[in-house]
Amino acid sequence: MALVLKENFGEVPGEGHVEKWTLISSNVTVEIITLGCIITAIKCKDKNGDVNDVVLGYDDLQDYLANPRYFGAVVGRVANRIAKGRFVVDGKEYKLAINNGPNALHGGLRGFSKVIWTSEGVEGGVRLTLTSPDGDQGYPGEVQASVTYTLDGDTLSIQYQARTTKTTPINLTNHSYFNLAGQGSDDIYDHEVSISAQAYLPVDDNMIPTGEVKPTENTPFDLRGPVLIGQRLKEVPGPGFDHNFCLSSAGDERVCARVFHPASGRSLEVSTTQPGVQFYTANFLDGSFKGKGGASYPKHSAFCLETQNWPDAVNQASFPDTLLRPGEEYRHITRFVFSTA
Ligand code: GLA
Repeated sequence: MALVLKENFGEVPGEGHVEKWTLISSNVTVEIITLGCIITAIKCKDKNGDVNDVVLGYDDLQDYLANPRYFGAVVGRVANRIAKGRFVVDGKEYKLAINNGPNALHGGLRGFSKVIWTSEGVEGGVRLTLTSPDGDQGYPGEVQASVTYTLDGDTLSIQYQARTTKTTPINLTNHSYFNLAGQGSDDIYDHEVSISAQAYLPVDDNMIPTGEVKPTENTPFDLRGPVLIGQRLKEVPGPGFDHNFCLSSAGDERVCARVFHPASGRSLEVSTTQPGVQFYTANFLDGSFKGKGGASYPKHSAFCLETQNWPDAVNQASFPDTLLRPGEEYRHITRFVFSTA
């Protein structure tokens, strides 16, 4: 199990201290701040033993407070899009803030990624907790949420748990942007991806799933590969991948994706209990942020693998149930395994 250190990261006036937790194993170092449960760094070796930070982010707390692209953050109460920011639960309509075209995205204007969580050390990691009040960002019920990060050797585990006082949709994920060549590298075109999905969700012009669960076979979305990302990006319509891949046997933890970067020898393997994973190739980055160490992050300079329930599930009856009811426990786990070959 990892060595766990804690230090002060900064102060948000009127809101409190932000702490930084560092988890150190023999191979990997992970840094997490209590603002938004943000993973600010993942440092791991390449095949020659050289260490690089493989996630995008910022140097300063100030930039993480804005963080318009959710670098490293836990997003919620509902990650991804809810069409028109509206849904009906138990016969009552709820309206959320519209923050992405006509839709609600990633929990709203001040979602779980924008608030300071309470933290405590656990064996090999840190547990962060949050009380989201009834009506928070328009969502029903008071939600007690926790996110536990633990590091053991090559494996970073993220366990999500929540309870509610009223029936509410919930969908928590981590929004880390990876570049296995090291953050600040220009693109991810030389990375190879495989995602074990026989189907994906096509989206409409507003990026809401159409409802069709489309087989990946004989489409550019068949990533059962491995597939070279740069090559495949030329075949995908639109600016790149930003789609939910449908995983079979939800509930059981299974490997859903692997990304390999031959030049460094680094690989990332993702396993999850969730029914989907959003594969996103950072299509909305445009080089306008000043990232860590002065890096600029152009389009396609990272990839995200956001394990999740299917987008807009609260409005699409055929999608996996996304409602958490009083008395139930929301619990799922995602693991990121970093290795070299
Ligand atoms: C998710 C979405 C993308 C984008 C990013 C954040 O991956 O699917 O469309 O909103 O978050 O910029």
